[in-house]
Amino acid sequence: MHSSMGTRRVLVTGCSSGIGLAVAARLAKDELRRFKVVATMRDLKKRGPLEKAAGDSLNKTLEIKELDACCEASIKECVNSLPNRRVDILVSNAGVGMIGPLECQSIAAMKELFDTNFFGLVRLVKEVLPDMKQRQSGHIVVMSSVMGIQGLLFNDVYSASKFAVEGFCESLAVQALKFNIKTTLVEPGPVMTEFERKVYEDAEMMDLSETDEETAKIFREVYLPYSKKVFTSLGQTTEEVTEQTLKVITAKDPPLRHQTNRLYTPVTALKHADPTGRLPLDTFYKMIFKHDNVLNATLGVLRMLKSVLRTKKIQPKL
Ligand SMILES: NC(=O)c1ccc[n+]([C@@H]2O[C@H](COP(=O)([O-])OP(=O)(O)OC[C@H]3O[C@@H](n4cnc5c(N)ncnc54)[C@H](OP(=O)(O)O)[C@@H]3O)[C@@H](O)[C@H]2O)c1
Repeated sequence: MHSSMGTRRVLVTGCSSGIGLAVAARLAKDELRRFKVVATMRDLKKRGPLEKAAGDSLNKTLEIKELDACCEASIKECVNSLPNRRVDILVSNAGVGMIGPLECQSIAAMKELFDTNFFGLVRLVKEVLPDMKQRQSGHIVVMSSVMGIQGLLFNDVYSASKFAVEGFCESLAVQALKFNIKTTLVEPGPVMTEFERKVYEDAEMMDLSETDEETAKIFREVYLPYSKKVFTSLGQTTEEVTEQTLKVITAKDPPLRHQTNRLYTPVTALKHADPTGRLPLDTFYKMIFKHDNVLNATLGVLRMLKSVLRTKKIQPKL
């Protein structure tokens, strides 16, 4: 069956919680029944919340399979188990976060993060791309981040992993297009998921003895409260990100990049406005270290704007 005429098979990674879970359940419940969802997770013992969210669609338009993005064999086994190994749409979503002073993070932990966030994507693409090329159709959708465009204080390694994701996809997209395969980087700002809880939990337990006192203080007393404020002021729900991912997937001409949070767009626009990099650097520096009041006022306005946009159900245009 040609993908444009029938149901499209979507493989989603990291469906035990958060965005992956919400995207998988939403696509499976599509009123137009356009998708067959292969919702994957590395630990099937965590399937409960997804089963609950899937409801009646479970084992009809949604099946749950095991897939560890850090294991080539696991990815192969999952794809091999699908009829004709067919994946029309890959949603590479599995990812982990990491915040804190660099001196307190081990190289081993950084490598682990890259293994999931970057090489996890590379492994998946290596597995599905040849078949997509052969069929001359497919869509690779990648859960990136605004931190793949603009780095953020104490997110050095996480941001670097998303920059790697962006560079990889931007490069590959040209070749893929020659085979009629579309590529989309979905770039959320802060989203209220387990992700946030996990990174803050790690931050609370972090041994800061490896860094100097001033850095530790900046991390604890400036960055963490700042970051929590940003989450409460700008944070989106998984439903909001999911609706926009659905739009990207069903778009006739999907974009290479899609930022889900229009409140965050001015931040990333700074980067494009000044190729020397001074403008975003100075802005972030002043925002974090000099103008706490300005930041608080701005976040207050943004909070208000967010609720207006929500009430009016205004979403960014594709
Ligand atoms: N939340 C945000 O603020 C935010 C913002 C921008 C972008 N993102 C991106 O959105 C994606 C989803 O994050 P989320 O917010 O939904 O966080 P989440 O609730 O923590 O979900 C992350 C998912 O990735 C899975 N995962 C981790 N390592 C894996 C591996 N090796 N193989 C397969 N699955 C693995 C986790 O599974 P386990 O339960 O087994 O750990 C979990 O299902 C990530 O790529 C993240 O970088 C998040």
